[in-house]
Parts: sequence; C-alpha cells; structure tokens
Amino acid sequence: MDKSKRVIVTGGTGYIGSHTVVELQQKGYEAIIIDNLSNSDISVVDGIEKITGIRPRFENFDLCNRKKLFRLMESMPGTDAIIHFAAYKAVGESVREPLRYYHNNLTTLLNLLEVMEKYNVPSLVFSSSCTVYGQPERLPVTEEDPVQPATSPYGNTKQMGEEIIRDMMYARSGLQAVSLRYFNPIGAHPSGHIGELPAGMPENLVPFITQTAIGIRDQLKVFGVDYNTPDGSCIRDYLHVTDLAKAHIAALERLLDQKNKTNYEVFNLGTGQGVSVLEAIRTFEEATGEKVNYTITGRREGDIEKIWADPSLANKELGWKTEITLAESLRSAWKWENNYRSIKRENGEK
Ligand code: WQD
Repeated sequence: MDKSKRVIVTGGTGYIGSHTVVELQQKGYEAIIIDNLSNSDISVVDGIEKITGIRPRFENFDLCNRKKLFRLMESMPGTDAIIHFAAYKAVGESVREPLRYYHNNLTTLLNLLEVMEKYNVPSLVFSSSCTVYGQPERLPVTEEDPVQPATSPYGNTKQMGEEIIRDMMYARSGLQAVSLRYFNPIGAHPSGHIGELPAGMPENLVPFITQTAIGIRDQLKVFGVDYNTPDGSCIRDYLHVTDLAKAHIAALERLLDQKNKTNYEVFNLGTGQGVSVLEAIRTFEEATGEKVNYTITGRREGDIEKIWADPSLANKELGWKTEITLAESLRSAWKWENNYRSIKRENGEK
C-alpha cells in the first residue's frame, strides 16, 4: 500500500468492531475508533494494542452528536472510509424501548451519511444482519431471497438502515457502500486479549454456554426441542468473529479498489453450515472437555426455526470464506471467558 489509508471504525471497541480494528491495523490501515462506550469498555483499546503493538486513536463520543462528529471530520480531511458498527443490538430490549433503538441506530447512520457527502468520505461498510430474512422459505438463504417484515425494532433498524443507504447511494453516484449481513458471530481473538463482553445476562447462546461452564450461570436453557429440525432444536450458522472481521477488510478493499459492480452491494457472511443448539453444546463439550449443565425449556418468543447462509456471493466477489471451525471458535470463546474473568479479578471486580 502506498499511503496508509485512514478508516473510521464506529463502535470500534465493541465485539466485532474491535476484531476488525485488529485486522485493519495488521494490514497497514490507520484505524480511528469512534465509540461512546455505551456497551463496551475502554480496556478494549489496551487489548487491541497488546495484539498489534499499535494503540488506535480513540474518540469517545456519541455519533448522535452531529456537531462533535462534524468537528472531528473537519480536523481530519482525507478519510478514506467508514466501517459502521456502532448500534444498539439487544432484540428484547428493542421491543421494550423502540424509540431508543430507532433514534440511536438511525440517527447515527444519517449523521454518517451526511459526513460522507460533506467531507468527501467515499466508502461505507455497514453492519447488517441475517435477521432481515426472517424465516426464509428456502435454505440456504441467498442475497436474492426476499427481506421479510422485521420481528423486532432492532431488526427493523437494520432493514431501514439498508434501505436508507440504498436510497442515498442511488442519489449520489460518487458514494459507495456495502451492507454485510452477518449470521451468528461467535468466539474471540486467539490471543485471548479481546472478545465479547456481554453486559448482564447474555442473550446469545455462546456467551451463555461459556458463563454456565465457568459457573457464573447455574444452567443453560435450551429454548425448545420441538422444532422441525433433525434434533428438534433451532439451527443457526455460527462463524468466528476473526473470519467475520476479515470480511470487512475484503469489502473495504473492494470499495477502495473500485472492484464493486454497483455503488451499493449486499453480501451474506456465514459458513454455509447449519448447526443446531444441541450440536453447538456438544461441540463445545468435546472441544473444551467442560460439561455444560443445560435443561430443555419452552421456545423463546420470536426465534427463527432454522437459517444458514449461502455465502457463495461473498466467496466469489470478496474472495472471502470462513476458515475457522466451529470447535476452534468455541475453544476461543472458552479461552476468552477464562482470561476475561482473571482480568476482572485482577481489577478487583467480581
Ligand atoms: C442462537 C440459538 C436460541 C440462548 C442473533 C442475534 C440477534 C439477531 C439475529 C443480529 C437460538 C438458542 C440462545 C440461550 C438457547 N441479529 N439459545 N439458549 O437468535 O440467532 O439471534 O441473530 O444482528 O441480535 O443475537 O442468536 O445466540 O440468541 O441464539 O437455546 O440461552 O440459541 O433459541 O436457537 P439468534 P442467539
């Protein structure tokens, strides 16, 4: 690379954001984090530095604050791209607090789109979700399959986000964007220095598994084994967060090198393999040698029965595919759970 390209990573101290900052730095990019630490911790910046030897510039403010954002952009002309992770993401909370979700997730995006135009930042990579497909009729699901009405305000902010970006790209041919539809990201950086930091009771399966195995939770509840799947539990496509982070670099480079076919594209990011909840638990037990105390309970409201990706478009166009197995991913989640607990103990926390 001739000059170090400058990339803003919103939500860069979050779970997927921090892993992406590491990959960016390791490829020679200058990553600038904007995050208000509403669901992350400043110690993540230390973790990133431990891995890469580079402390990323960190700007602590809320992206809803248009004035602060504009002031920052004025101070650093020549920014090449934005990777936008910053958003609220708890499905259940979004049902209880819809306005908070719409306000935060949409205002931040609108502000960033304004920034792209006003300060000549040509490229955007947007965090979207397989949640836009609802329960697909055909599996694996491709980018051609229809988007279904969202089942939560959170999911709706992702759908609306994609639509807003698509409209803006249609209106401004000089700007370009990619939306990445993630399936289920799991695991942590192999170094053990960064990983997921779920606040309070985890909603997601893998942090619940690791917290149960380490003894913070008494028992994992498997939400239903009466689905129309081989073992009755729900099926998802779990991919390692480092693989996912690498897809962002591939998407970014496609934009920077102008290899994109149109100025707005969408890609599924998954392994292409469906794994049931019971299989995930069994694989965790085999990969780590730890037992997970679990019980079968009723279905969780709003759960999709089964979904997995057809990632062939990303394989072909981004030259990206997942490389880390489910067992390795779960082992890395377990390593992180143990490291994280000892970091907390060292800091005198519980
Ligand atoms: C996986 C499976 C649960 C916890 C994710 C994101 C969400 C959204 C869609 C992201 C399901 C089961 C879980 C537990 C369980 N989009 N489970 N016991 O539902 O795919 O949602 O994708 O952008 O934000 O979280 O992931 O990890 O919550 O659940 O049995 O304690 O594990 O029923 O089948 P899900 P998940």
